[in-house]
Amino acid sequence: MNTLKNFDFKNKIALVRVDFNVPLDDKSNITDTTRIDLGVKTIRYIIKNGGKCVVMSHLGRPRGLGFEKKFSLVHILKYFSKIFNQEIPLVKDFFNKEFNIENYLHDSNIVLLENLRFYSEEKENDKYFSKNLASMGDIYVNNAFGTCHRKHSSTYGIIKYINKYCIGDLVEEEIKNIEKVLYDNKKPFTAILGGSKVSDKINVIKRLIDLVDNIIIGGAMANTFLKANGVCVGKSLFEEDKLDIALQLQENARKKNVKIHLPVDFICAKSLYDNVTEVFDVKSIPSNYSCYDIGNKTVILFEKIILKSKKIIWNGPMGVFEIDKFSAGTFNICDMVASSTHKGTFSLVGGGDSVASVKINNKEKNISFISTGGGALLEYIANGSLPSLELIKS
Ligand code: 3PG
Repeated sequence: MNTLKNFDFKNKIALVRVDFNVPLDDKSNITDTTRIDLGVKTIRYIIKNGGKCVVMSHLGRPRGLGFEKKFSLVHILKYFSKIFNQEIPLVKDFFNKEFNIENYLHDSNIVLLENLRFYSEEKENDKYFSKNLASMGDIYVNNAFGTCHRKHSSTYGIIKYINKYCIGDLVEEEIKNIEKVLYDNKKPFTAILGGSKVSDKINVIKRLIDLVDNIIIGGAMANTFLKANGVCVGKSLFEEDKLDIALQLQENARKKNVKIHLPVDFICAKSLYDNVTEVFDVKSIPSNYSCYDIGNKTVILFEKIILKSKKIIWNGPMGVFEIDKFSAGTFNICDMVASSTHKGTFSLVGGGDSVASVKINNKEKNISFISTGGGALLEYIANGSLPSLELIKS
């Protein structure tokens, strides 16, 4: 795959697709700038080498019917401008015949296009929208790992209409580290998976069974596996239509000598907002209770596996970690992955909630690599690549 090093950016306009889809609070302040902080190195490189940058991103999931204040990139403009110590213009209405990007690049070597998803054409991978984006520059640079699984105009369609294209440094780093965790020869290799749905992770688990020694499963996903094994999970969330696949995955794992570890106890309550919580062993969950976090016995069980591992990949929380009384399981996992890393294990953490727990715990420096991808990371594991990257390779 071409990287920045393969091109001379002098006097060229680079179209840099970034993933500035950062979380905002209810006053539209950025609550986590990581994706911007990691995305700007590529822009710096291009500017330093004499090029200009047309930067493009999406933010959130607008309806695609035009401007929506809540999703405007104006909310990140101040922070983005501060990084480069210059006022970066926000370019609107760029999908029309009269539009000429050069008008904006006279006064600034970096411009930011307004949220691409204000146009429904972006997600539809519309030919004319893709062509319009491509016509704004000379070299396309994909530095938006978190969005590389989307076949959208700015990540996919555009590549057909421009002659020069490559990946940026953030994408390069992501690929290097994901390949390292998946294929380096260190063993035991443990995958920790959480979150609510088995359906989101079937293909990931299928693929991981060929690669890992242990799969630890927590979150509501675990309920589906337990239910499939005949356990009463009370009122807990589970996926009725995924019980067969849960059995099948366990059978496949057994055949390949991969151990699937499920929780042995849970922190339960009659409802999410009930102040009274109780701990139940997996065999004695009352029918009127729901499981919201893993219990202490499970934490001890998982700890043994995590501390013995030499490679770890973690995606998804162990419970409803946004609520204090159900956060301990996820935070414990975070501590264990950090301790294991401290002893020399290579660890990769991805996905919004797991990464958030690492940040809340101030453990960023104790994890080998934190991925900026959620869905993109899972799809990369499942398929060994991503649509946008495949096109860039070709
Ligand atoms: C993400 O946050 O995972 C990426 O920015 C992709 O966003 P999307 O799921 O809305 O395509």
